[in-house]
Amino acid sequence: MDKNNPIADKKFENTSPLSMTREEMLNLTNKASEILVDHNLNFASQDAWDGEFSDGLAKIFMTDPPEDGQNIDEVLEQVTQKIFPYSLNLAHPKCFGFVSSSPTWPSVIADFLASGINQNVCTWLVASGPSQIELTVIEWIRQWLGYPDTAGGLLTSGSSAASVEAFVVARESADNPSRATVYMSDQTHQSIIRAARVIGITAENIKKIPSDDKFAINVNLLAEAVAQDVENGFQPLLVVANSGTTSTGAIDSLDWIADFCESQNLWFHVDAAYGGFACITERGKRLLKGIERADSITLDAHKWLFQPYEVGCLIVKDLQNLESVYSMRSDVLQDTVWGKDHPNIANRGIQLSRTFRALKIWMSVQIFGMKAFRDTVEQCFALAEKAQHYIQNSSNLQLLSPAVLSVVCFRFNPENLNLSESAIENINRSILVRVFWDDHAFMSSTMVSGKFALRICMVNYTTTWEDVKETLDAVESFGTEALESS
Ligand SMILES: Cc1ncc(COP(=O)(O)O)c(C=O)c1O
Repeated sequence: MDKNNPIADKKFENTSPLSMTREEMLNLTNKASEILVDHNLNFASQDAWDGEFSDGLAKIFMTDPPEDGQNIDEVLEQVTQKIFPYSLNLAHPKCFGFVSSSPTWPSVIADFLASGINQNVCTWLVASGPSQIELTVIEWIRQWLGYPDTAGGLLTSGSSAASVEAFVVARESADNPSRATVYMSDQTHQSIIRAARVIGITAENIKKIPSDDKFAINVNLLAEAVAQDVENGFQPLLVVANSGTTSTGAIDSLDWIADFCESQNLWFHVDAAYGGFACITERGKRLLKGIERADSITLDAHKWLFQPYEVGCLIVKDLQNLESVYSMRSDVLQDTVWGKDHPNIANRGIQLSRTFRALKIWMSVQIFGMKAFRDTVEQCFALAEKAQHYIQNSSNLQLLSPAVLSVVCFRFNPENLNLSESAIENINRSILVRVFWDDHAFMSSTMVSGKFALRICMVNYTTTWEDVKETLDAVESFGTEALESS
């Protein structure tokens, strides 16, 4: 016991069965910290993926809640041995699937602090300190994107929610057209389609424009589709540009779309969930040029800004558009006039009660500094380029889409064998399964110009070139084995 600490032997004077003594609290906290630190330092002994069938898991966990509390060590044992292992290990250095990022340790601790302090970042009255930190983080994002100072926004659970919030603003700004149509490329993430459905756009009025040979929206076909719809009495509402697509990282022609939207009086939204935070680097700024002309942008800090789930962002070019849609007056919140003229962040989106998401971004940036983040994003760019060259120099691997942002698509297809498309697809499907069952790594697949493609995406600060190379080598040897046994 620490004699200098006046509360070292203090029991929480409370008879609630839900309270714990200081010692019990610290005991549980220390055990949980050890579990997480060991998990994060022991990737070499772990697989990037493991899963269990629902029968097996339901047998263990589909039980009634216990009437009396259980032993803490036994509960933690269940968590670490029977729950945690059966999942994609997103921060694993060989986790290349989807857009799997590794959270920085200060961000994890910030989430723990935010959860323990349990502040509700709804209004200035209720949480002025946390509100200021969120405003600061939004201001950083505004500047990274090169947005004008009229811009503003909020942190969200992710880009899916942020897109819905953006589309409502687009719809309201256009006076709720009854025959609204929306446009996006055929490479657009499904969350955008869902968001369009949520705001009431019918499936047939969601126009998927074919993409070009670089997987970016074919702008001529976009212009034709809009003109045709106007002629047929529809009311084009918005265009979504990708920055970049989840499949191949493709970035649509942002400046062209900005000009087009201006000329047609359409809302211009950029889905930058994956690629948006590349904007902290000079290279990213060049790639995303034109994004600053969008009416609204969605980005995910739980992707390429190395934050734990959940933290996305909606930022709009004119903050007033956002607040005029979401500001609500209510009798039960009438006291929130304290701090009048201060922003109430709940007036910028659909959530009233809001977790303190900004703390993790703010704390990790304070502790590491921006240079560390920039260097890490650059490192992801470099890994993707190196992977592209490695694939191009292999006689067994075929590049299907080049490194854009930090993603590369390819397949096992040995030169000069002239395998049929179906044979190639079967071999690559078997490689994918073997990578996550038999190797430490995990990758996911996609379709590139109708071809089944293996896809590696690097947004993980734990990944080294050795991890990428070993995984590409594993693909080659699993492919060779599949070929020999077929
Ligand atoms: C390009 C793109 N847009 C939108 C989303 C949806 O974001 P979230 O999962 O944060 O809701 C994702 C990925 O999940 C994505 O990759």
